Amino acid sequence: MENDVNLIIKRVTLLFAALCFVPFFTTLLFATETPYPISEQEINAWRLTEVPYPESNPNQKAVEELGKQLFFDPRLIGDRTFSCAACHFPGTGWSDPHPNKIKNTQGMDRQAPSLINVAFQKAFFWDGRSKTLEDAIEVHLKELSLTSGYKTSALPQAYQQKFLHIFGTSSTSSTNIAKAIANFLRTIVVQDSPFDRWIAGDTSALSQSARRGFLLFIGKAECSKCHSAPNFSDSKFHNIGLNTLDPGRLDVSQKKVDKGRFRTSSLRQISRTPPYMHTGTKNTLMAVIEFYSHGGDRHEPSNELKVLNLTEQEEREILDFLTSLTGSNSSIVIPQMPISNAP
Ligand code: HEC
Ligand code: HEC
Repeated sequence: MENDVNLIIKRVTLLFAALCFVPFFTTLLFATETPYPISEQEINAWRLTEVPYPESNPNQKAVEELGKQLFFDPRLIGDRTFSCAACHFPGTGWSDPHPNKIKNTQGMDRQAPSLINVAFQKAFFWDGRSKTLEDAIEVHLKELSLTSGYKTSALPQAYQQKFLHIFGTSSTSSTNIAKAIANFLRTIVVQDSPFDRWIAGDTSALSQSARRGFLLFIGKAECSKCHSAPNFSDSKFHNIGLNTLDPGRLDVSQKKVDKGRFRTSSLRQISRTPPYMHTGTKNTLMAVIEFYSHGGDRHEPSNELKVLNLTEQEEREILDFLTSLTGSNSSIVIPQMPISNAP
């Protein structure tokens, strides 16, 4: 009799245990099979919103077209041999494949960042010394003339007529030049990468490996702590232990804690824009991933990274994910420039 009771208790316990495992196994099954392993809300957070325009510089076709002409016009910069596009070249993700054409205030080299999705940033330049895109362009025009010996030259008369028509004054002031170029730069948006198609519902747009890379990106590797949704940048400043003497954000804030902090880069189209980092010293995306796996070049207390010790497979998966952020290279037609004044 006692044996029978024991047997029944054993069977009930076994049955109970088996029942407990059912939801566990189902979760496991769905976790590997479902194309969206995180909630719909978390997925939606990565969708880019409409491009924000400030009230003082609304989206206007005529302003945008003027900005585009100015961007590609070498006559804007004093020695007249190259334009904005020389360092923010459309064919290489609006960045510079050659390292280090500009120096910071201490004479240290800085890499030209990509201008893709710059409209979504909230701080501009590696050290965030400008808070608006318009200000960044105005400051940049001044700095280009100071640090490199270029001068913002007088633009041809044909431009003055355009300025009069658009801004009500023929003065080609740097404020109006910056407004026009900012209006144009806000049109440089990439949101058609395989990753973007995947979050929009195309379940086949991402490979298994890239999906696992995404999970590492927002999970174990903690990349999204700084490269956050939706533009893969929190627009904030971090010290990631790069080998550099550049003070970064310290220059702007004068706060000691900001030494070696730089603004988080956005990552859409990232496979098109080597070399990487403000130093331009990481030549491939794999070199960047290995850098993060080791917790950065320098292990000083201000370094915010931790050592990840990623396996080779995990590194490849993150690489596949980063590559999936690359959309089409929208073809850009270089505009016709107004002809020069008669000599
Ligand atoms: C000689 C190379 C060079 C030229 C020419 C150049 N830039 Fe830059 N640009 C850079 C570098 C380098 C930086 C980063 C500087 C820094 O952070 O201190 C930069 C930064 C920027 C930024 C800030 C981007 C961000 O993500 O914060 C904008 C916007 C920009 N440039 C637009 C322009 C425009 C518009 C022109 C033409 C008027 C231009 N650039 C001409 C090299 C160049
Ligand atoms: C603590 C914040 C932080 C974390 C965590 C982080 N990043 Fe970054 N990332 C940055 C900052 C800041 C920069 C710009 C650094 C510089 O150039 O000085 C950057 C730059 C990059 C660049 C180069 C961008 C360019 O245009 O040159 C890539 C690629 C990148 N990160 C990928 C990753 C990946 C992948 C991970 C996770 C393994 C990761 N990041 C984790 C803050 C972070």
